[in-house]
Amino acid sequence: MVAPLNDKQRVAHYAADLIHNDMVVGLGTGSTANYFIDELAKRRVEGLRVTTVASSIISSNRAQQMGLEVVAIEHLSHIDVYVDGADEVSPQMALLKGRGADLVREKLLANASDQFLVLVDNTKMVEYIGQKHPIAIEVAPFSWEMVSHSLLKIGGKGSLRANGDGLAMTSHGSLVLDMTFDSSLDSKQLNELLNAVPGVVEHGIFQGLATEILIGENEQIAHITKLAE
Ligand code: A5P
Repeated sequence: MVAPLNDKQRVAHYAADLIHNDMVVGLGTGSTANYFIDELAKRRVEGLRVTTVASSIISSNRAQQMGLEVVAIEHLSHIDVYVDGADEVSPQMALLKGRGADLVREKLLANASDQFLVLVDNTKMVEYIGQKHPIAIEVAPFSWEMVSHSLLKIGGKGSLRANGDGLAMTSHGSLVLDMTFDSSLDSKQLNELLNAVPGVVEHGIFQGLATEILIGENEQIAHITKLAE
């Protein structure tokens, strides 16, 4: 008997069906992105011609093991579609990402894509960004004290992310501050504030980048689509 799909699998399979021959496809990181990678690999075996670029070493390894062609990010300036999960999604399509360790690549791919499809189940939908998770802020290791001080001045509270007995380090070689802010600041304001803090390498607010959110809920898929500008 074939096991029923869970909500993350359902949106991942739906997204894989949207991929056409000769597309350059960005691969995200996380359990939902893994379902997408696996389904895309299945479609390749069935004859789909596709080139991929990965947002992390772990996704790159998985895609290669599954037989997908993976191109190094440094060889591309533009991609057709980036498909990734998120930690939070607001009704205005702002995202919080960064539970993993590859924010720099994730935002680069999101920004370089014609389409950015975000795959989530309904547990990721929030009223405002920062509702359930702290905001990940990547900082150059030597700058974390000064950045923490700058963030404190705009109401940020938090600390360096730990990893076992040590500190978590991103694949870009940064430390991560997990910070909370006053909920009166919306994601647009926070995005602008964080973009302006010297020493911040990248942060987890993805503002205005997603073109479509696919939400798996109760065996259905709901869509939120960006209006044309
Ligand atoms: C990776 O850094 C994150 O932004 C992921 O996209 C996020 O954690 C989603 O993970 P799941 O698909 O496992 O929920």
